[in-house]
Amino acid sequence: MTASSQSYTMAGGNGQHSYIHNSSYQKAAIDGAEEKTTQCILEKLNLQLNSDLGTFRIADFGCSNGPNTFHAVQTIIDTVKCKQLKENNNEVSLMPLEFQVFFNDQTNNDFNTLFKTQPIECGYFSVGVPGSFHGRVFPRNIIHIGHTSYTTHWLSKVPENVCDKKSLAWNNNYIHCNHSLEEVTKAYKVQFVKDMRVFLEARAEEIVHGGLMIVLGQCLADGVTMSETWQGIVLDMIGDCLMDMAKSGVTSEEKIELLNLPVYFPQFSELKREIEQNKSFMIETMEAISHPLEDTEILTSNFIISMFRAILSTIIKEHFGEGVVTDLFDRFAKKLAKFPIDFIECEKHVNYFVLLKRK
Ligand SMILES: C[S@@+](CC[C@H](N)C(=O)[O-])C[C@H]1O[C@@H](n2cnc3c(N)ncnc32)[C@H](O)[C@@H]1O
Repeated sequence: MTASSQSYTMAGGNGQHSYIHNSSYQKAAIDGAEEKTTQCILEKLNLQLNSDLGTFRIADFGCSNGPNTFHAVQTIIDTVKCKQLKENNNEVSLMPLEFQVFFNDQTNNDFNTLFKTQPIECGYFSVGVPGSFHGRVFPRNIIHIGHTSYTTHWLSKVPENVCDKKSLAWNNNYIHCNHSLEEVTKAYKVQFVKDMRVFLEARAEEIVHGGLMIVLGQCLADGVTMSETWQGIVLDMIGDCLMDMAKSGVTSEEKIELLNLPVYFPQFSELKREIEQNKSFMIETMEAISHPLEDTEILTSNFIISMFRAILSTIIKEHFGEGVVTDLFDRFAKKLAKFPIDFIECEKHVNYFVLLKRK
């Protein structure tokens, strides 16, 4: 039932460079949204929380290999339990709800590490759901609360023309959409619009009427381009390191020209427009929230190098071969030492919190 999609998962395993040990930036954002998540579920979830409901089903779309997903689903479960008690005047003899949690990600996600590192007494029944969220991954009308964090900027594929030297949308030696070339931005935007529509249409089928979909992520502020943000500068620098590697014969320019990341960060109003065009959900909340680590000294060069290595190593390995990853990130470390980025002074991505209710 799932759609096919180019799939570049986060670094698996439990080692030094794994996502599980290098995802505290994303974790901090989830923690920062915890209060809002709790408040929204208490106020906006319109389901009768009693035995007629049967099992309460939660899905995390793009869960990766942990551990952030466990924190996100635990907050949802604790809040639903608390709501059930409140609605039933703290009746202790009440039959407590049972919870089932569906962990979705691409088929090549490291689900083994996910389930091996899951807290032992989690208090819910777990299911792994492999497949692309750019399509249906569940039967109709079964999910009560859907959640996704830091995922919807991942496209189902790289826009075709950006790797085509003969096309106006050719992205030259850049490895991502940094907004330097208008035709490239257009091509990425078209793909993002298609993917966001498909994502929301699929969730609308899967989520029950009155159920909720929580979307956390990052976008650009209106009027800000990717190359002005520290994330954009980092990706451009990684692209420059690859070019240095081509000059020293480790890889070739032709190979770099064929690498483009399937990632697009829309501006806030662009994202809002795409969410609004879906008529199956009501937008209950869509707002910018602060990221607890921005403007702090935790964002050091070493932190950024490890974070981007955990995000990009799969795609780099697949494109250039296994041996290139360490060389690339060593070069990136040296470049950052020579040309430090002022993470505090740079433009920042906007962290957003969206709560949708299925009509
Ligand atoms: C940056 S990680 C975020 C992981 C986790 N949600 C968190 O907040 O830490 C993005 C995740 O989205 C997943 N992903 C990207 N595209 C996907 C797709 N089409 N279907 C399912 N998962 C996808 C990736 O495999 C990766 O695990």
